Amino acid sequence: MSTGATQNGGALWGGRFADGPSDALFALSRSVQFDWRLAPYDLRSSLAHLSVLESSGLLPAETVLKLRSALKELQLEVASGKFAPIDSDEDVHSALERGLTEKIGAVGGAIRAGRSRNDQVATDLRLYAIDHMLAVAGQLNSLCEVIIAKATEYSDAPAPGFTHLQHAQPVIFGHEIAKHAHAFQRDLSRISDWLDRTSVSPLGSGALAGSSLPLNPKATATDLGFTESTGNSIDGVSDRDFVSEALFILATIGVHVSRIGEEWCILATTEFGWAKVADAYSTGSSIMPQKKNPDIAELARGKAGRLIGNLTGVMTMLKGLPFAYNRDLQEDKEPLFDSIETLLVLLPAVSGMIATTEFDRAKMAAAAPTGFSLATEIADYLVRAHIPFSQAHEAAGACVALCEKTNRELHELTDAEFLAIHPSLTGGVREVLTVAGALSSRTTAGGTAPAEVAKQLKDLTAKNGEFIKLISSRAAAFSGMMSA
Ligand code: ARG
Repeated sequence: MSTGATQNGGALWGGRFADGPSDALFALSRSVQFDWRLAPYDLRSSLAHLSVLESSGLLPAETVLKLRSALKELQLEVASGKFAPIDSDEDVHSALERGLTEKIGAVGGAIRAGRSRNDQVATDLRLYAIDHMLAVAGQLNSLCEVIIAKATEYSDAPAPGFTHLQHAQPVIFGHEIAKHAHAFQRDLSRISDWLDRTSVSPLGSGALAGSSLPLNPKATATDLGFTESTGNSIDGVSDRDFVSEALFILATIGVHVSRIGEEWCILATTEFGWAKVADAYSTGSSIMPQKKNPDIAELARGKAGRLIGNLTGVMTMLKGLPFAYNRDLQEDKEPLFDSIETLLVLLPAVSGMIATTEFDRAKMAAAAPTGFSLATEIADYLVRAHIPFSQAHEAAGACVALCEKTNRELHELTDAEFLAIHPSLTGGVREVLTVAGALSSRTTAGGTAPAEVAKQLKDLTAKNGEFIKLISSRAAAFSGMMSA
């Protein structure tokens, strides 16, 4: 009924069992095919655990030496691919324990004293998450750089700005592009907050209650680069907030990227014709020779679905989960791996697409005043002449209605027509009915006036510089810890 004897998973807990795991159980519970990604972190946390076992005097010096050199050998062999999981391995922990015992015999099992896979897997996954969220942050930082550069390139280009996908008011096109950098810098600050909250080591929690052995969770925490060790061993093994919060951040990045995707798709249509996406970032059609499709933009839009799905899946799995470790928690990994790996492939493609897209300045400038996008200027002109805004709005609307009826643009109305609509609409109104006038008047902080846009780009650049410093110092500390 069972081929348990060949299944290494049973090796970690076989003592009280008369029979090994059934094939069906083994097939269901096996996770090494995805959790092997945790191997470098598992080995590093085993080395930290070994150090506390050593200082506690629980292991003979000779055993410590053997274990340490076997763990270090395994680190190299895992990195080179020389040591890999086999069919009978259940998960990354049992595979690596097999590696240890293959190297040094039964004494390899000594590393397990005072530790459970429950605190082990929680620790490994935190280390994996920190490492990879730093990688995502690095790519976000590069993406921001690309966005800021593109925004700077178009920081003197007028274009229509939209609400409800209808012409609203003219804007500087660089202002339009720069808005995406603000969204991603918020994501970077989310990652930075998340890093602080995630810097808690669960190692030492054991199965759930801590350990009767003289371990030192605070020392292990420091060794692994965490700020502190868990304040509650039960929370230590069951807390997966760092996973769901990371998934929320990754999904939010996905949503931000999807809005870029949608924008690019629209701007690259024949009808708009503003965006010219580079050949290297477009695809063709197998049947229609003329086609050039913005597939990166479409994938950028589409990937948000799976990123949100991963978040929803993990939150749903965590909901109502009872005390401490339950095997449900094994379902935390694939969504996290998937969201991270999705973005690590998506972000560079989106960066490349943005960096190489050219926009048609003439077309955007010509479109800027159309669709009566300067009507607000008429209303604001009247407000400056102390007319209540409701009346000013009414009068500007009447100008638009007259233009629509007579098929003209606002600046084509005669002085007499303006005065007939409102006595305060004197000749001076013509001065504000230009795109340049409208743009340069939007001087509120964060507005689209060229001087404000220039200031905004400077601020974004400075902030990006601060983020890169933070990310690289954290990343350097992390890789220093991993190679210690
Ligand atoms: N593969 C397991 C996981 O990912 C490791 C922890 C197993 N713990 C247990 N009590 N069965 O969650």
